[in-house]
Amino acid sequence: IIMLLVSCQQRDYPADNEQLSHEEQIVIRFSHVVGENTPKGMAAIKFAELIKERSNGHVEIQVFPNGVLYKDGEELNALLRGDIQMIAPAISKITTLVPEWSVMDLPYAFKNADEVHSYVDSDVGQSLMKKLNVHNLLSVGVWDSGFKQLSNSIRPIEHISDLKDLRMRIMPSDILAEQFSSVDAYPKRIDFNTVFNQLQKGNVDGQENTFTNITSKNLHSLQDYLTVSNHGYLGYLLLMNNEFWDSLPKVVQTLLIDTLEEVQQWEWQLAKNLSDERLQEMEACECINIHYLSNQDVQKWASAFEPVYDYYAGKYDSKYINALPKNQS
Ligand code: LMR
Repeated sequence: IIMLLVSCQQRDYPADNEQLSHEEQIVIRFSHVVGENTPKGMAAIKFAELIKERSNGHVEIQVFPNGVLYKDGEELNALLRGDIQMIAPAISKITTLVPEWSVMDLPYAFKNADEVHSYVDSDVGQSLMKKLNVHNLLSVGVWDSGFKQLSNSIRPIEHISDLKDLRMRIMPSDILAEQFSSVDAYPKRIDFNTVFNQLQKGNVDGQENTFTNITSKNLHSLQDYLTVSNHGYLGYLLLMNNEFWDSLPKVVQTLLIDTLEEVQQWEWQLAKNLSDERLQEMEACECINIHYLSNQDVQKWASAFEPVYDYYAGKYDSKYINALPKNQS
């Protein structure tokens, strides 16, 4: 980190840039919906701190966590309108704009985050990225939350048939809806910031999310059963309004890209560590009954979810599924 700081300072930022006068300040409003104690929340703060330091305060990233500025379900439109300049929505939420991205929601598409990162870097991943440009969006990175687990208050979910008839909260994604419909559960789209209330009121029985999201919203305090299923990846695209991006001086773009590259590596490690810690905390709290799927169960669950792949293949180009790591020799 020290070396990186030094190398940024050696670039003499921003004194060598005539376009950026001393009076001028660039403000980037970065809105997100999770708590500050999550991988996304912490990485956003780190990014803001580094940019402030490296630009001598000329570039300010203002971070608005917990949906305080724009709620889940509002932030994407706010970015498109240019009211804010940066968001990091779950990829599942981008599917409302570019549905092909829902390939990432397919159950058991990825075994670990490294597989996800390689997929996103591949030609097919980059073609998905390009589809964002049509909507005036630019992706400047991928951050992880982790893998989703299942919780509910009705019964332990040990076999896939245990999901039958459960009302499950999902993010807005057709593939997530299909994932639950295909096993006779009832998916319900609910904004992240109201999941706690909806569970408390009994409007849904359960939900799927990562360890850090479950604990940061204290969802486990309302739920009796947790199944460690790791059935789907939850991660974020760091999105900027493209027009705003193009308006930035080159030297600022370079600073942002270099810093994001560094923060991304840090965030990936943090997401892994925090997920492990949060699971350990839930194991220790004895407040929720935890069931672990065996490798054999995972194979069974993955085959049971095959129809969801057929559903995707019936709608979108098969190249997105063909490029998944499990379909590569
Ligand atoms: C969710 O809605 O469950 C997640 O997208 C929240 C988040 O941003 O991690």
